[in-house]
Amino acid sequence: MSEQSRRRPPKPHRRPKKDPVRILAFEALRAVDERDAYANLVLPPLLKKARDKGDFDTRDAALATELVYGTLRRQGTYDAIIAACIDRPLREVDPPVLDVLALGAHQLLGTRIPTHAAVSASVELARVVLGDGRAKFVNAVLRKISQDDLDTWVERVAPPYDEDAEDHLAVVHSHPRWVVSALWDSLGGGRAGIEDLLEADNERPEVTLVARPGRATTGELLDVLGEDSALPGRWSPYAVRLAEGGEPGAIAAVREGRAGVQDEGSQLVAIALANAPLDGSDERWLDGCAGPGGKAALLGALAAGRGATLLASEKQPHRARLVDRALTGNPGPYQVIAADGTRPPWRPGSFDRVLVDVPCSGLGALRRRPEARWRRRPEDLEGFAPLQRNLLREALRAVRVGGVVGYATCSPHLAETRVVVDDVLRGRGGPAPEAELVDARPLMPGVPALGDGPDVQLWPHVHGTDAMYLALLRRTA
Ligand SMILES: C[S@@+](CC[C@H](N)C(=O)[O-])C[C@H]1O[C@@H](n2cnc3c(N)ncnc32)[C@H](O)[C@@H]1O
Repeated sequence: MSEQSRRRPPKPHRRPKKDPVRILAFEALRAVDERDAYANLVLPPLLKKARDKGDFDTRDAALATELVYGTLRRQGTYDAIIAACIDRPLREVDPPVLDVLALGAHQLLGTRIPTHAAVSASVELARVVLGDGRAKFVNAVLRKISQDDLDTWVERVAPPYDEDAEDHLAVVHSHPRWVVSALWDSLGGGRAGIEDLLEADNERPEVTLVARPGRATTGELLDVLGEDSALPGRWSPYAVRLAEGGEPGAIAAVREGRAGVQDEGSQLVAIALANAPLDGSDERWLDGCAGPGGKAALLGALAAGRGATLLASEKQPHRARLVDRALTGNPGPYQVIAADGTRPPWRPGSFDRVLVDVPCSGLGALRRRPEARWRRRPEDLEGFAPLQRNLLREALRAVRVGGVVGYATCSPHLAETRVVVDDVLRGRGGPAPEAELVDARPLMPGVPALGDGPDVQLWPHVHGTDAMYLALLRRTA
């Protein structure tokens, strides 16, 4: 037999199978990685395009969403596992290859997709988007990963808790170490609490609606949705919780702006400010950082019920337009302006109630923004610090003596919450009107575990809300 005839005939080249769900998930991950895009903004247009082309049904869309969000949330854990399966540092692996590997790891370790289907779908994806050569590498790595389940892998790759508790929690619960450390400082307590919090950050949050008072009622929303699709809120009298898969856009009251999508924590903040005790007039309310307008819309409706007016101010003109849209149809008087809250156009002392929901790291909303935890850096806090203090000082100047300011953040990081309030009250970094803290806890009746006061910190694992912070300050001089 000649050498030629003994050699195996080459396999006929098979075209890779194109799986639109995995290709879309890969494209979304690349956009998040390459363009610093937000998953919740990138995904809807990609899904719409796939639906319009007839590539996708509802189940495909749900799977693609789960693959993107799940992969991003668990990226820290998957990276540690992938690193243990290859013989070079992760940073030397091309980012698109890492994205395919992480997607594959999520299917193997974080979903019920059968092992063989997860590996073969990932290898086919690699053939389509990376080429045959790199698909072999993907195949080899995923076969290694598929040999054990998530718990076994985590035990192998996470440092022992007793040696380095924060590093252990960072790998097990897929958060950057500095975020674990900051959340733990703010939460206090032992291991169980921080583990529950970190896990809650990895859960998909419920969708909560607000029935804007005077425009819609929770009863109306519950009737429309039916008891299988919705429940009353846990804490806010205006909240309705949607069952999984509930589509807010399908509800007429939401389309008409009489109701909206709003986390219960945000509702509680607006309600507490609206109900804080005041002596004297209660006619002029200000939301000084209003964009995109969720709290402004609730405050506007509450103000209308009291005969008060709301001025909603936002620095970014395009976000001020969103505020305008959120307030359209408000039952009472309001005005929306684009203005810098640190150089405000209003006269000092002209408001009875003021909300400043300041720009922050967003570490309290990690459930909603799966990529945010990997993008944020500890240095970002230094960038926010002077702005947060300036906005609070100006809010105190804007309120009349005896009026109340609500300082809110969607972050529980102490450097953005208590430290800011404390600095401003003590005049550190610049003079501010004199003020005293008001106990915010009685203004959230029925809500347990609000801390030692007078400020309040909500938590995803305790309250099912974003980790919103609120301090109420009454101007005294
Ligand atoms: C956390 S968001 C507010 C969310 C809003 N309260 C809601 O419930 O929809 C902070 C807002 O402050 C705005 N902002 C940032 N710097 C500002 C400034 N100097 N003056 C006024 N608004 C500012 C941001 O553009 C952003 O829209």
